[in-house]
Amino acid sequence: MGKILVTGAAGFIGSHTVDFLLAEGHKVIGVDNFRTGRKGNLSRAVDSRDFSLHELDVSAPGALGGLVGVERPDAIIHLAALVSVQESMTNPALNFSLNVQATHLVAEAARTHGVGRVVFASSAAIYGDAPEQPAREAGEKSPVSPYGAAKLASEALLLGHGATFGFTVRCQRYFNVYGPRQDPSSPYSGVISIFAKRYREGRGVTIYGDGRQTRDFIAVGDVARANAIAATRANLFSGAANICTGRETSLLDLAEIFGRYLPASPLPEHAPARSGDILRSLGDPGKAAAEMGFTANVRVADGLAALIAESAEVVVT
Ligand SMILES: NC(=O)c1ccc[n+]([C@@H]2O[C@H](COP(=O)([O-])OP(=O)(O)OC[C@H]3O[C@@H](n4cnc5c(N)ncnc54)[C@H](O)[C@@H]3O)[C@@H](O)[C@H]2O)c1
Repeated sequence: MGKILVTGAAGFIGSHTVDFLLAEGHKVIGVDNFRTGRKGNLSRAVDSRDFSLHELDVSAPGALGGLVGVERPDAIIHLAALVSVQESMTNPALNFSLNVQATHLVAEAARTHGVGRVVFASSAAIYGDAPEQPAREAGEKSPVSPYGAAKLASEALLLGHGATFGFTVRCQRYFNVYGPRQDPSSPYSGVISIFAKRYREGRGVTIYGDGRQTRDFIAVGDVARANAIAATRANLFSGAANICTGRETSLLDLAEIFGRYLPASPLPEHAPARSGDILRSLGDPGKAAAEMGFTANVRVADGLAALIAESAEVVVT
């Protein structure tokens, strides 16, 4: 079994990745500065003697490198980031620090201490408004936000370091991830977490634009499994692959599914489209299947049912 260091461990995807790795029998070193993550997300993990948690800022020079030098993990899964596209537009300097500088420090920590593999949380945002549908890895990349640009730059930084200094890099281009522990408090959070919260509270949702905009929604359990495969499967080559389902769901579809499970809910309201919103997002999952043997298992209707059923306030009939 391996020893895996996870940055952003207390976050949404990070905490599920930690739980998955522990369940598979790995030792896990969690790193977080709790900027957006919560200790409560790791309530299961902290009971494991195979888990340790370290509070540090990955973007602070020397901080992660010091820990990696002591722990000597087999792999680093780098998920810590400024995750809000909107915040990257209002604060590009912070985006550079948390999403580019931090990645460079991860690459340097891997080089300096001989870490064999780095897995990076990239994003469908690197494709921009995705002229090609479904988006394929070799296709055009035209990020339309500092966030997307930083993810693309980070892929290049890591792949360049890996090729030069001899470690494997897997860039995981997540599409829209949803599931338990996703924070619905920001208006720019994942749309499913916002919808779930509002439906749970018996309130209707607001759909910006005509609601025909689509996303490739992938369940967080599938993403955690993809991270574990990328970090631990033997004989993987460096590269980038979409982590997606290959299926499109519109916001109107989502509202319809929630309405089916919670029929007493008010109908959605419509508001003008928000600037910068991507109209269509769909990924081709073939490369992740071919290179890592990863295929998403959970269909959106099932993932939503599980999310709704998790809530004590709601009885699914
Ligand atoms: N959620 C999605 O749909 C999605 C899609 C594409 C890519 N991603 C990427 O996946 C990763 C995880 O996202 P998430 O949705 O779990 O968000 P999240 O906010 O729940 O997790 C990010 C974690 O990183 C921590 N963090 C931030 N800056 C840090 C720093 N400098 N040092 C240490 N810890 C720091 C936060 O406290 C948080 O726990 C991010 O890199 C994000 O860009 C997410």
